[in-house]
Amino acid sequence: MNITAVQNYNLYSKQCNPNFKANNRKIIDKATGNVYKTTTYFFREDLNWDGFVKLLDNKYKDTLKVNVYNDACSGGHEPVSLAIKLKQRMGKRADKFFPIHASDYNPTNIKNAKAGIMGIKNEELYRINEETNNRYRDYFSFAPRTNFCDDLALSPKGDLSKNIEYKQGDIFKNIEQMPSSNTVLLCRNFWRYLPEDGNNAEKLAQKLGEKLDSSSLVVIGEHDGECNTKGLLEKYGFEETPVQYVFQKRGK
Ligand SMILES: C[S@@+](CC[C@H](N)C(=O)[O-])C[C@H]1O[C@@H](n2cnc3c(N)ncnc32)[C@H](O)[C@@H]1O
Repeated sequence: MNITAVQNYNLYSKQCNPNFKANNRKIIDKATGNVYKTTTYFFREDLNWDGFVKLLDNKYKDTLKVNVYNDACSGGHEPVSLAIKLKQRMGKRADKFFPIHASDYNPTNIKNAKAGIMGIKNEELYRINEETNNRYRDYFSFAPRTNFCDDLALSPKGDLSKNIEYKQGDIFKNIEQMPSSNTVLLCRNFWRYLPEDGNNAEKLAQKLGEKLDSSSLVVIGEHDGECNTKGLLEKYGFEETPVQYVFQKRGK
């Protein structure tokens, strides 16, 4: 697939409603004409982040290295949220989860993430501060905005930026490289963008079912319900853990 960014941000902005979110670009796949959105934000509330890292801490208590992948990571807000939560809960013990291998299909997302420029809306700052126990300045500095739809831009500081490695890529190719064991794959709020012709959502669930064993986890998001991702993962051997949207292979 060949995706290109919509150039006319002004036109797009005028069409936005008051709930318009930062980090929200519309992209068009030249080959298929499909439209994608890149919407993302820090600590996206469909995941219970504290419950999730508690699950990771317990499940991998005796594991020396955990392979964490965040595909369809958009502009990097998601892997940064995870890295902060891992550090908050585990301190030095979080090192075995790093680096987080983050990737997205869209090259502009990855360019911004690599540059450490992550756009937000003003009100997001309150949530970030709440999630970081009023210590957002420990994790972020302010950066120049590159998208006028954002109110502000944040840049992850020091160690935090070194905990994540970004690359552009398609999830179908990426999963070929993933180890079968002790792998945690976040692939959230993007399944509806997989082309329907050729049953790509089902193919992905099947590949994950064949690839991963019961020591691994797959994490989806609220919007993935729109294309029955939960049903597809269950069909290919996964079950939902007590943390909503977090799945593990049945067995063991
Ligand atoms: C709505 S954003 C979701 C971002 C983030 N996961 C979250 O939940 O906040 C969807 C992202 O999926 C990416 N995407 C779409 N198809 C993809 C594919 N086949 N492989 C990797 N990324 C893909 C798009 O570029 C877009 O950035």
